[in-house]
Amino acid sequence: MAMPVLAFAALMFTFTDMISTVSAALPVTYVFGDSLTEVGNNNYLQYSLAKSNYPWYGIDYSGGKATGRFTNGRTIGDLISEKLGIASPPAYLSLSGNDDALLKGVNFASGGAGILNDTGLYFIQRLSFDDQINSFKKIKETIKTKIGEDAANKLCYQAMYFIGIGSNDYVNNFLQPFLADGQQYTHDEFIELLISTLDQQLTRLYQLGARKMIFHGLGPLGCIPSQRVKSKTGQCLKRVNEWILEFNSKVQKLIVSLNHRLPNAKLIFADTYPAVLDLIENPNTYGLKVSNRSCCNVDTNIGGLCLPNSKLCSNRSEYVFWDAFHPTDAANVLLAEKLFI
Ligand SMILES: *[C@@H]1O[C@H](CO)[C@@H](O)[C@H](O)[C@H]1NC(C)=O
Ligand SMILES: *[C@@H]1O[C@H](CO)[C@@H](O)[C@H](O)[C@H]1NC(C)=O
Ligand SMILES: *[C@@H]1O[C@H](CO)[C@@H](O)[C@H](O)[C@H]1NC(C)=O
Repeated sequence: MAMPVLAFAALMFTFTDMISTVSAALPVTYVFGDSLTEVGNNNYLQYSLAKSNYPWYGIDYSGGKATGRFTNGRTIGDLISEKLGIASPPAYLSLSGNDDALLKGVNFASGGAGILNDTGLYFIQRLSFDDQINSFKKIKETIKTKIGEDAANKLCYQAMYFIGIGSNDYVNNFLQPFLADGQQYTHDEFIELLISTLDQQLTRLYQLGARKMIFHGLGPLGCIPSQRVKSKTGQCLKRVNEWILEFNSKVQKLIVSLNHRLPNAKLIFADTYPAVLDLIENPNTYGLKVSNRSCCNVDTNIGGLCLPNSKLCSNRSEYVFWDAFHPTDAANVLLAEKLFI
């Protein structure tokens, strides 16, 4: 039990440290990820099936409107931005090609996206991590034309990069028996593929100027409602959680290695797994009540989104999960508190 606490203390120290090294100005942040941090990129992808721009998404967001966030309120990224005292960066696809907002931070996250290109294939359209890095490369060129090469490089060196990706490589790839990767690879092979791909991707971000990168590890995916329904008794899937722990530990090793290999790189692994598991195992400790089914009552293995005809729970502040995959605003608030005081 002492371990996670120590891990958080260490994380908080480096995190605060990192912020204080970001000059006196407000930090510029670039966000890469999936539906856990998306703020509306997929709204602009005409054929994407990974969308959340309809009720009841956003019912507890400012204005009560669906924005493309996959929760009833704020994402964990929104809440971390609040803690940094900055506005949550806008969706990349909501900006015009040479918007001045590019200088202040951009969110590239896209629901259904993964480390691998073929993850989330059945959503038709989403911005994979490679797509997101390519988009960052594009905006860097634009920033250069706006403020000059030296200033652009400096801006990129000093910015913070939040990266949270990999959940879909399990939930919408390896764990779907009808998709190729689950049949083609053993878990050992699959994890090697994920880690070697991630190695190239983080190295590429570094080459594009990223130095301060915070990688959010995966949560206990075996406990999300869409996985629990695969167990006859509604329990967490132990084997899935073991795979996730293995992934997290390999990413941690990768990050140590990248910090050695890449001069001036400051990558941090933010271990969210223990905090999320604690919330799921002990909801009462946090003033929550239900952690084994979703507020929208849409717990299926595929689908699982909170569609307009879903019947909502009576008190959204009592649930850890909003739909079959994503935490509620209430859970995100608690997680942000736990991770980044
Ligand atoms: C994804 O596809 C692009 C080309 O479309 C390729 O350059 C890239 O290496 C692929 N990435 C992965 C992770 O397979
Ligand atoms: C959730 O947990 C409660 C209480 O522990 C139990 O009564 C209920 O059957 C569980 N629901 C599911 C869907 O597993
Ligand atoms: C909803 O649940 C929260 C958290 O348990 C509680 O503080 C609040 O009073 C509840 N609201 C209603 C209307 O019951």
